[in-house]
Amino acid sequence: MPSLFDPIKLGAVTAKNRILMAPLTRARATMDHVPTPMMIDYYRQRAGAGLIISEATGISAQGLGWPYAPGIWNAQQIDAWRAITSAVHEAGGLMFSQLWHMGRLVHPSLPGRDRPLSSSATTMPGLARTYEGKHPYAQAKAMTHDDLRAVITEYRSAAANAMRAGFDGVEIHAANGYLIDQFLRDNANFRTDDYGGSIDDRIRFLVEVTSAVVATVGADRTAVRLSPNEERNGVNDGDPEPLFTAAAGALSDLRLGFLEVREPDFDGTNGRAERPPIAPLMRGAFKGVFVLNSDYDFRKGQAALDQGKADAISFGRPFIANPDLTQRFAKGLALTPDDKATWYTGGATGYADYPAVE
Ligand SMILES: Cc1cc2nc3c(=O)[nH]c(=O)nc-3n(C[C@H](O)[C@H](O)[C@H](O)COP(=O)(O)O)c2cc1C
Repeated sequence: MPSLFDPIKLGAVTAKNRILMAPLTRARATMDHVPTPMMIDYYRQRAGAGLIISEATGISAQGLGWPYAPGIWNAQQIDAWRAITSAVHEAGGLMFSQLWHMGRLVHPSLPGRDRPLSSSATTMPGLARTYEGKHPYAQAKAMTHDDLRAVITEYRSAAANAMRAGFDGVEIHAANGYLIDQFLRDNANFRTDDYGGSIDDRIRFLVEVTSAVVATVGADRTAVRLSPNEERNGVNDGDPEPLFTAAAGALSDLRLGFLEVREPDFDGTNGRAERPPIAPLMRGAFKGVFVLNSDYDFRKGQAALDQGKADAISFGRPFIANPDLTQRFAKGLALTPDDKATWYTGGATGYADYPAVE
């Protein structure tokens, strides 16, 4: 059985180990969604990961509703990302860009935004972050077929931009209740056309977006992230096992670089998932590299590899406060706890100021 320290081929690239950095929104870009110099330091420090998956990155202004999150739709953003990917490469790392459309979570008060888009005319519960505090979300517009085509074009162009910016590939963010997940799961999708209703119809948008990205950058530079088992941002499904098994099967046919599945523990110490694990069914349906995420430490991650449950593990929160996480795992060193208070605050504190041990 492979060790977390063994290399692994992820499509077109070979990661030096199986300890991947999960995507982490940190809200350190500018108000115009351009990456900042401190992000160069932050990502360079974490180049010991087998692969860094970038924080979620807007494919268009209309698709991005998180203040100070980065985008990848214009030349300024591409140039700023290039400085980051160069630094990661110089430090011996690899980096994918996580492509993000937030759908109904985009607040129309943000500059240049219209009414949010979603599969159906639903409203995200709770309050949106805006540049002027938190406000109730707006009801989404159910996407027309023209809207669907336009958003798929945005994914294509963002994927091409990511390659121009020097990324090694892209990961389509189809998890956590954002736009693609708003099509997948049945408590947010009430469509009666070819994009709603049956499982085949609900996975259609995911497959079309992924096929478009594959046609743009190649299957071996394309990955997808799914979160089958838990409510996220108000999105959930009544019968997720067949849905996500079918989604994994359809993505398998596209021969992606890898599939990343975020699934919390069901009955472990952090037991938050609502149902027994769905990932094993998805692993059976997906023939490529399978990456598992959520609530792993070194021991549990290695056990998942030993048991054949995954080929690699992505670690999120452990990378926030431990830039040298791979080294610490290798040497059995204690981990620094991260500070939740500085996850999204902007500014230098709690960002690139966590020291490596050596
Ligand atoms: C601060 C923070 C930001 C996150 N941002 C993203 C994101 O941009 N994209 C994404 O897919 N998941 C995001 N997540 C989820 C993480 O990638 C990961 O799934 C989660 O933290 C569980 O993994 P862990 O137990 O290793 O931290 C975020 C989580 C945290 C704590």
